[in-house]
Amino acid sequence: MKEWYDAIKEAQNVEKLEEIRISVFGKKGVLAQEFAKMKSAPNEQKAQIAKDLNTHKSALMNELTAKKITLQTLELQVAMKAESIDVSLFSSKSQAGALHPVMETMDKIVEYFSAMNFSVKTGNMVEDDFNNFEALNLPKYHPARDMQDTFYFKDEMLLRTHTSPVQIRTMMHTKPPIRMIAPGAVFRRDYDLTHTPMFHQVEGLLVDEEGKVSFANLKYILEDFLKYMFGDIEVRFRPSFFPFTEPSAEVDISCVFCKGDGCRVCSKTGWLEVLGCGIVDPNVFEAVKYKNVSGYAFGLGVERFAMLIHQIGDLRSLFEGDIKLLEQFQ
Ligand code: DAH
Repeated sequence: MKEWYDAIKEAQNVEKLEEIRISVFGKKGVLAQEFAKMKSAPNEQKAQIAKDLNTHKSALMNELTAKKITLQTLELQVAMKAESIDVSLFSSKSQAGALHPVMETMDKIVEYFSAMNFSVKTGNMVEDDFNNFEALNLPKYHPARDMQDTFYFKDEMLLRTHTSPVQIRTMMHTKPPIRMIAPGAVFRRDYDLTHTPMFHQVEGLLVDEEGKVSFANLKYILEDFLKYMFGDIEVRFRPSFFPFTEPSAEVDISCVFCKGDGCRVCSKTGWLEVLGCGIVDPNVFEAVKYKNVSGYAFGLGVERFAMLIHQIGDLRSLFEGDIKLLEQFQ
């Protein structure tokens, strides 16, 4: 029996130990054989042989169990050492993430107006008819309410089609003066090269006492803002129409691709339209019960800005999560 005690002592790993266990305790193992032999031993010796074998049996089992624990602990330590991670190490393969170009552009827009003392409001993406249309002087028959353009829910609720309703929500809850911008997602039933069902706008609104806010103020800040965004460009204001402003204008910048010479992107005009603006229509102030005030407002599409800044041709590519495209903005 002694050799089995030695074998246990010398076993180097759990597998070897298991082999020993089977050799000793298995059905055809050493102990089984010894007990079998006992049958042919003289009767008076049987009791002693059985006693000795049982002593060995429990002693060997104790040795095995103790050795198994020792070996397992050792193996665990070796494995842990091999798999240990030095969290302070830098990996040359690690890649830094990057802001999506639309969010980066939005941040830059917000940065400009924050520096100009405009506060940032978010509003609601699920809007009602009053805030999205009615209060903005978009009466019931106005074509912008068409089912073609607007996602409607039941009960007159809808997905906001522009960020202008944040003007209304802010004026309903705040006394003038107001200087705010509202960046955020807007939704329209549209999908082609230059339209996606969800896109982002930034709305701006400034309200102060009557006679204090002029078109010249609006013109100054938008020109300054557009030069901040696009660098060395020309800016022009074109008379236009929006229900919520009067007078209204659309603002163009000289084409960032051809510098005004005329190319495909600007349809050979040399100009790119980038935002809408105007002096707040008295009907809007009436809807929010403001009296003796004047103000200006403007609105722009963030994706259009991002596409012009980064020279991206297809708007839809911004929403496909294409890693190759996004990697260029790291
Ligand atoms: N809400 C307009 C749109 O979605 C953008 C806009 C134009 C906002 C002129 C304004 C504005 O505040 O004065 O196209």
